[in-house]
Amino acid sequence: MAAKLTSSTLLHHILNKHHFPARTFPWRRVGARHCASFQQQKTQYSNHGATSSWDVQSYMPEAAALSNVQSYQELLDISVGDPETFWGVLARERLTWVKPFQMVKDCDFTQGRVRWFLGGQLNVSVNCLDKHVHQCPERVALIWERDEPGTQVNITYRELLDTTCRIANTLKKHGVQKGDRVAIYMPVSPMAVAAMLACARIGAVHTIVFAGFSAESLAGRINDASCKAVITFNQGVRGGRVTELKKTVDEAVKSCPSVKHVFVAQRTDNKVHMGNLDISLEEEMDKADSVCTPEAMNSEDMLFMLYTSGSTGKPKGVVHTQAGYLLYAALTHKYVFDYKQGDVFGCMADIGWITGHSYVVYGPLCNGATTVLFESTPTYPDPGRYWETVERLQINQFYGAPTAIRLLLKYGDDWVKKYNRSSLKTLGSVGEPINHEAWEWFHNVVGEKRCTLVDTWWQTETGGICISPRPSEPEAEVIPAMAMRPFFGIQPLLLSENGKVIEGGDVSGALCIAQPWPGMARTIYGDHQRFVDAYFKTYPGYYFTGDGAHRTNEGYYQITGRMDDVINISGHRLGTAEIEDALDEHPDVPETAVIGFPHEIKGETAFAFVVLKENLSLPEKAILEELKSIVATKIAKYAVPDHIMVVKRLPKTRSGKIMRRVLRKIVTNQTEDLGDITTLEDSSVITEILEAHQKYKMDKPGK
Ligand code: WTA
Repeated sequence: MAAKLTSSTLLHHILNKHHFPARTFPWRRVGARHCASFQQQKTQYSNHGATSSWDVQSYMPEAAALSNVQSYQELLDISVGDPETFWGVLARERLTWVKPFQMVKDCDFTQGRVRWFLGGQLNVSVNCLDKHVHQCPERVALIWERDEPGTQVNITYRELLDTTCRIANTLKKHGVQKGDRVAIYMPVSPMAVAAMLACARIGAVHTIVFAGFSAESLAGRINDASCKAVITFNQGVRGGRVTELKKTVDEAVKSCPSVKHVFVAQRTDNKVHMGNLDISLEEEMDKADSVCTPEAMNSEDMLFMLYTSGSTGKPKGVVHTQAGYLLYAALTHKYVFDYKQGDVFGCMADIGWITGHSYVVYGPLCNGATTVLFESTPTYPDPGRYWETVERLQINQFYGAPTAIRLLLKYGDDWVKKYNRSSLKTLGSVGEPINHEAWEWFHNVVGEKRCTLVDTWWQTETGGICISPRPSEPEAEVIPAMAMRPFFGIQPLLLSENGKVIEGGDVSGALCIAQPWPGMARTIYGDHQRFVDAYFKTYPGYYFTGDGAHRTNEGYYQITGRMDDVINISGHRLGTAEIEDALDEHPDVPETAVIGFPHEIKGETAFAFVVLKENLSLPEKAILEELKSIVATKIAKYAVPDHIMVVKRLPKTRSGKIMRRVLRKIVTNQTEDLGDITTLEDSSVITEILEAHQKYKMDKPGK
């Protein structure tokens, strides 16, 4: 392990579990030898939070520079009251700059203008890699928790920098330049993380497409972003099953003229067809130099974009830039989870989602953490997988999704108790509201009532966590199933339907954020007007999140859910319009309406109402099957509606708008009060749908 590592030997280590079992990577010993302060720091901090001598300046060393802040409350006050000083000091102290910035911010919500740290230059990969390699080269950066339990691979900061530079040089050699967009279609893996950082190193813009998306979804994103290259694996491995990633890419790039090259890395030993565009990534990396000079990037150059769903049909490329995003991801990672140097941070998310970007990759790596890359599923090979992993990797912070918790609690406590979870300190939940039962089980059973459980609210657009119980003063209460408190610099507000700010406690409204923060999105790729319209138009002067929230008498926030036509299936956002667009493609289906429907495990699922033509080419049952397959092909398997109900007509207003709220009431059996239906074009449609729903429930009992 101490021998010189070329990319091929590293890859060999990574890919060949038989030759290099986990035991040959004694990273703790190696880390301690090379970095004397590593273990000391861990011990020094381990009692933090339980001591009464908590002081703000050891908590945030910059506090002294922030007008000599003395208490936690002062720190919060200054972050909101004087964001320029707060963020200016933190950006100077926590990031490594090539050129210092001259202006902390230049923002105007009415124009959708958000710019931070102007005039400054830096490189994100230097902040995530080189900075730590200088101090502690053998510290483990990544623990790749591969699909098969017990085959994890540790990658040090030095190895990750080496791999990153080789990919960066390979991309450059094949014509990828600063500003070019690169699609990454890979599951979470060291190669994928290195590919992200390689883009950052040369100033290319990555757009990761979740490896569960279909060829058509992938092509849509590649084309919208005009990507020059795609990076993928031959195959993926998850839950004991192999997925044909390269085949999906082949299918996608047929309709993507901007793509000049497809770089293919090997996750399995299986050969795949290599065509004209294809380049073997490992072969090129072997030939490449392991040193790559980082590009000096302006704070506001694009770092990445990530497609997410809105209430209209087409997914939007949410753009994040360099300095502000990185600072915000790093700061939230540290303070929300109480991360301490030496901790093993375990975020179970895939890099295809924003959670993977901010809390698997950028936040932890900027803080020099050891971050877990979880390739498997919560139930593979059995429902004890998460907790067995916690014990084996000695995970200190565990960040997961409510849908997984809901699923696991059904299997009972024994799967958890079988494993030693004493390493755990903080538990986190993200992606959707966490119900009380799941919260209590996570806290009481998994966390043995001794870990802090933080429900974290945020969005692809916010870049990082905005509302969560921590940070706060150490002994402050945590209320179950509630995100509670704004992060430094975040000023949440509730607005009424008529655009008035709602004051006081025990009130509900549209959740807005009053002032900019460095982590927020800058635009929607290629469509700034859509950015302005989606987030700044409904409540002028405020960022509108699309979510509703309740504020308690104590001033804590509880997120109540989306206010628009976006649903959340297993923590994954999807616009109902996207599903409708896919269903409408069927020649026998003139019209559809899709709504969210509660689901025990997934949180929500899609419920589709479809109108069929009079003379069908196939039996109705066959058409319904075809509809499911269309959604899987056009979007992804997880988007396939659990319910498809045939109706003669949809409830429409006189101006032709579908009244989805009426459909929602019908399927959730709230038929006593359907709300205002005076604008319906023909109210007899209600009786029709009620009857159809009765029949549907009889045919599909339990619904
Ligand atoms: C929902 C995921 C309640 C919310 C990081 C938001 C939540 C959308 C929570 C963003 C939470 C996320 N409680 N709802 N703790 N976290 N959401 O962009 O509706 O995939 O607007 O980002 O998920 O989803 P996205």
